[in-house]
Amino acid sequence: MNLDFTQLVPYLPFILEGIWATLKFVAVALVFGSILGVLLALCKIGSIMFLRWFADAYTSVFRGTPLILQLMIIYFAVPQLTGYDITAFTSAVLAFGLNSAAYISEIIRAGINAVDKGQVEAAQALGIPYKAMMKDIILPQAFKNILPALMNEFITLTKESALVSVIGYLDLMRRAQVVGAELYRNFEPLLFVGLIYWLMVMGLTLIGRQVERRMRASD
Ligand code: ARG
Repeated sequence: MNLDFTQLVPYLPFILEGIWATLKFVAVALVFGSILGVLLALCKIGSIMFLRWFADAYTSVFRGTPLILQLMIIYFAVPQLTGYDITAFTSAVLAFGLNSAAYISEIIRAGINAVDKGQVEAAQALGIPYKAMMKDIILPQAFKNILPALMNEFITLTKESALVSVIGYLDLMRRAQVVGAELYRNFEPLLFVGLIYWLMVMGLTLIGRQVERRMRASD
């Protein structure tokens, strides 16, 4: 055993900057993925055949192929078609957002379906328009059902973010690799960023618990 964490000290600022680099694209991807996920879920439960088909096909493709492949297609292959380079950040946001939307749409669809049918019937009997019914009655109730699953998805995405190291984006994972290569010792940087990922996930878990508690209080 020859662990020596003191050698990490000069690299600490470099590694710690990776937290921001990681959080930045994960946060944007989550917002993008959530919005797209809600829209896809609405397509799935709606009555327009084409939209249902499209949303199902979308999920099938993005859930059915590896995220790392989608990421590499967006970063390496798309510029070959369009002639325009795309930054690693934009590719990461796109790949993670598009991929997550497929999962989020399924989570939301299940959550909406779990809301008692009587709620829809009551809203219809009262003549409430579809949009208002969804926004004010169904989605708020569905949200309560889906929160744990949604938190799970956010945690998954935060950890999967380490995949961006393959397109050279200097996230936490990539920084650990760089430092490992410079020091000729990998255990310390990898263990250190492992701890940081774990702390980030713990943070998300706490936020999730807090939101759940607040929603229970409003019952
Ligand atoms: N590693 C898996 C893949 O390549 C994870 C996909 C991302 N999962 C998620 N819930 N968004 O497909």
